[in-house]
Amino acid sequence: MIAAVPRPDVKVHRFPQVDYIEGSAKPFKQIDIATHWLGKARDYKSVDGPLLDVKDITMKFLTKDAWISKNRQYFTALDKVSFDIHAGETFGLVGESGSGKSTMARVITGLYHPAGGTAHFAGQELTSLKDKKQVLTMRRQMQMIFQDPFSSLNSRMRVRDIVAEPIKFHKLASTNSEVNQIVDDLLEHVGLGVAAAAKFPHEFSGGQRQRISIARALATRPRFLVCDEPTSALDVSIQAQILNLLKDLQDELGLTMLFISHDLAVIRQMCNRTGVMRHGQLLEVADTEDLFDNPQHAYTKELLSLMPSMEGLSRQNLEEELA
Ligand SMILES: Nc1ncnc2c1ncn2[C@@H]1O[C@H](COP(=O)(O)OP(=O)(O)OP(=O)(O)O)[C@@H](O)[C@H]1O
Ligand SMILES: [Mg+2]
Repeated sequence: MIAAVPRPDVKVHRFPQVDYIEGSAKPFKQIDIATHWLGKARDYKSVDGPLLDVKDITMKFLTKDAWISKNRQYFTALDKVSFDIHAGETFGLVGESGSGKSTMARVITGLYHPAGGTAHFAGQELTSLKDKKQVLTMRRQMQMIFQDPFSSLNSRMRVRDIVAEPIKFHKLASTNSEVNQIVDDLLEHVGLGVAAAAKFPHEFSGGQRQRISIARALATRPRFLVCDEPTSALDVSIQAQILNLLKDLQDELGLTMLFISHDLAVIRQMCNRTGVMRHGQLLEVADTEDLFDNPQHAYTKELLSLMPSMEGLSRQNLEEELA
């Protein structure tokens, strides 16, 4: 079990997995991406410059309403945040609870309208999309995976319908049997198997439910995934499986990711570049390895100093755990 704990001190290509824990999880099934439906996720036009370019985004929440506007009170959850994410990259956002990470994710995915700033995705301004078709195209390209896969899945729907919903909504298949085939493929691909289709979310473990969320997210053939603490509700061995699945999918489909976590060890394994947030401000952005080796901001240094050390775990401990 200890082997599955993300190492804060070294970067590994894959997380060590303890497969027997989640009995029904199958290894990632390779597909021929050149011919498979999912491969079309890579057909998006390439962009000059970053895929996502966020500039001076400010988000305020009304905390005290009043008839007279000057008496209204606001809380600034994002204060002029700027960063960019290049195609194929995983960009991490790390920071304490309440620092504004989820708010940023919600602004990017269009759930919140910011008070100021701009966000361009594939060259298009996100915060002022007007045309309905533009909004739908954007929604299809960006998908979100949340921390709690239970509340983000409709508990009254069978898995087949949960995964099929975005395919139908975006009219990505022309017949029901085509929809069913895609759902089956996706469920196989995320390691659940087709038998999952007939069940309800509550019949699955947390890790399996997160696989359902991932299958649903992939159903629109996105190019960009926003993962908001996708494994924080899972125990470490299941976390390793889900993180590996996300890495595999990214390699295969060339996905770009915004990866939010408060866990620096997970950030180190997953992200090419990372931004550190506190009180709605982005304090520092750097290549992830540089951030760990040479943090610039005092707060980043403090965060790093709070990371658990792996020194106490000898090779023998690891081997005993895995025996
Ligand atoms: N809808 C809202 N109305 C009012 N305040 C909000 C709203 N959503 C978020 N906030 C406030 O904005 C701040 C940032 O919240 P946010 O959820 O983005 O933090 P976070 O970094 O994702 O934290 P966590 O690690 O706990 O998920 C918090 O102080 C929160 O209370
Ligand atoms: Mg959050």
